[in-house]
Amino acid sequence: MCFMAAMAPLRNIVILTGAGISAESGIDTFRSAGGLWEQHKVEDVATPEGFARDPDLVLRFYDMRRAAIQTKTPNPAHEALAKLDGAWGGELLIVTQNVDDLHERAGATRVLHMHGEHLNAWCAACDARPRWTEPLIHRPPCPACGEPALRPDVVWFGEVPYEMDRIHAALREADLFVSIGTSGAVYPAAGFVRNARSLGAQTLELNLEASQGSRWFDETRLGPASEVVPAWVDELLGG
Ligand code: OAD
Repeated sequence: MCFMAAMAPLRNIVILTGAGISAESGIDTFRSAGGLWEQHKVEDVATPEGFARDPDLVLRFYDMRRAAIQTKTPNPAHEALAKLDGAWGGELLIVTQNVDDLHERAGATRVLHMHGEHLNAWCAACDARPRWTEPLIHRPPCPACGEPALRPDVVWFGEVPYEMDRIHAALREADLFVSIGTSGAVYPAAGFVRNARSLGAQTLELNLEASQGSRWFDETRLGPASEVVPAWVDELLGG
């Protein structure tokens, strides 16, 4: 049975995106074969302890990734979500685990970066979050306080993701929760589908392969994001 046909009229949508939506833009995912977490140890480059142990290693890793994402461009999946964002009259929130800015560069505005952003730095001395496109390895001074205390504004394991209150408020109001391109391996994002379900939302997964949490979704559509996301958006806007 077609998911959309079975659905009650919907107004409020929460969309969770992960690394899979940016894969076809040439940004490595984390857990695929050859993905980032095969090339680098999580505990070395994505924990506060790793940063305390070897800050140069961590700053170099993020300097490389910050430079790389600036050479990438949005793909049809980002563009389709931006089109939906522009056209959808109800509430819509794109909660992304991604630290790239491809949703915004495609034109989406209702985007929340729960794991931070590559193009922001965070000052450990004064808590400023300046926009940052350059390397941090040489310890540039914070534009707000002058201290050489900037780190990537990326949420590491053991740190609390951003804006959880706002995300839970949106999930409470959601008629539809859609998960795109995420393996469902990392909490709290991996638990959103169950939150949304228990609060009455329909749930849809769009992914290359079934994720760890696939059984919690009313419907799963498998395929590359550049194909399944535009098809779903067209269906939603046309229906
Ligand atoms: P993962 O690398 O864990 O999962 C990526 C998902 O995208 C997998 O399920 C792939 O099957 C799917 N995928 C790959 N290519 C795709 C394509 N072309 N179209 C659609 N789907 C595709 O990435 P995330 O789930 O985003 O956190 O990882 C979650 C978090 O773990 C990240 O935000 C990061 C990481 O550690 C932090 O760094 C805090």
